[in-house]
Amino acid sequence: MTNFKSAKIVSVGSYVPENVMVNKEFEKFLDTSDEWITTRTGIRKRHIAPRDQLTAASDLGSRAAMVAIERAGLEPGDIDGIICATFTPDNFFPSTACSIQARLGCSSAYAFDVSAACAGFVYAITIANGLILSGRGKNVLVVGAEVISRTLDWTDRSTCILFGDGAGAVVIQGCNDVGQGILATHLASDGSLGNILELPAWGEKRTMKMKGNEVFKHAVRMMSEASIKVMKCSGTVLDDINFFIPHQANIRIIQAVADQLQIPVEKVVTNLEHYGNTSSASIPLALEEVWNKGAIVEGTRVLFTALGGGIAVGSAMVQF
Ligand code: ACO
Repeated sequence: MTNFKSAKIVSVGSYVPENVMVNKEFEKFLDTSDEWITTRTGIRKRHIAPRDQLTAASDLGSRAAMVAIERAGLEPGDIDGIICATFTPDNFFPSTACSIQARLGCSSAYAFDVSAACAGFVYAITIANGLILSGRGKNVLVVGAEVISRTLDWTDRSTCILFGDGAGAVVIQGCNDVGQGILATHLASDGSLGNILELPAWGEKRTMKMKGNEVFKHAVRMMSEASIKVMKCSGTVLDDINFFIPHQANIRIIQAVADQLQIPVEKVVTNLEHYGNTSSASIPLALEEVWNKGAIVEGTRVLFTALGGGIAVGSAMVQF
């Protein structure tokens, strides 16, 4: 059992289903418009998974994970742990992480799921960091994978226009370079706000329900607070942050949080225009875009923040 001093993100991968749904398509069956969706949310299109038995969160997640494993220069057998953040699992059990393990042949890995809705990715990297620092392996695969389209009420114009399907994955690796990797994370939850955003597991109507205005208000407040805590905890000042990668829920939420934190617009990463809200997949999907541009180099410091049903919020300060 090796105890590493730190844990860093060494690769990222993503996968989205081929089928693209543009805003205009909603006009065919809902009292809405491309203009309303674009101006109120910033979203122009999203990817929607086919409604077949084969396409589940584990399918999207496995494809994203394989990219991340290969980019890290690893084989599936090198993975010591798999954590999958999802609120749209294949089954109650086996976990989606176990299905990914079987599919990829990561036979040396332990595997389990994390439920923190849209904050799931930040929760999962926090757990991965803790596991690595406490000697539970060197390479932990963190996957955010969602088929949200199956949980939506397609007659509810205030929710169904927001979401998309997709997956993102990172490999987190133990190292001994102090002052690198996951510098600090902050997690907080407020279960008393559970009813503003919920997806029942039982009962006749198992579709997502959301009080959009309420979520909006708490998202801005709680993501800003968590980000300030993680900045303090990691000794990071504003100028140290190279990129701010928030959960991609609504462009107006992102702008409001960035304003509160006084992060300049050129450091704020957004891609929800193309994917909508992909929940636990949204941060790794956005990270991969920056990564593919070659903008993540040694020393790049990135602030992640996300909020989801629970209410659960999390922020992480990461140095590459
Ligand atoms: N098209 C046209 N009109 C609409 C639509 C639509 N798609 N959706 C709502 N409206 C209407 C409403 O009915 C309302 O009409 P009314 O004034 O006649 O009652 C009007 O637009 C304004 O509604 P609001 O809810 O005040 O609109 P708002 O500007 O707040 O935008 C939205 C709604 C986009 C849902 C916003 O509140 C939001 O993004 N909230 C946060 C959602 C979020 O972040 N979720 C993330 C967590 S998800 C997770 O964890 C799984």
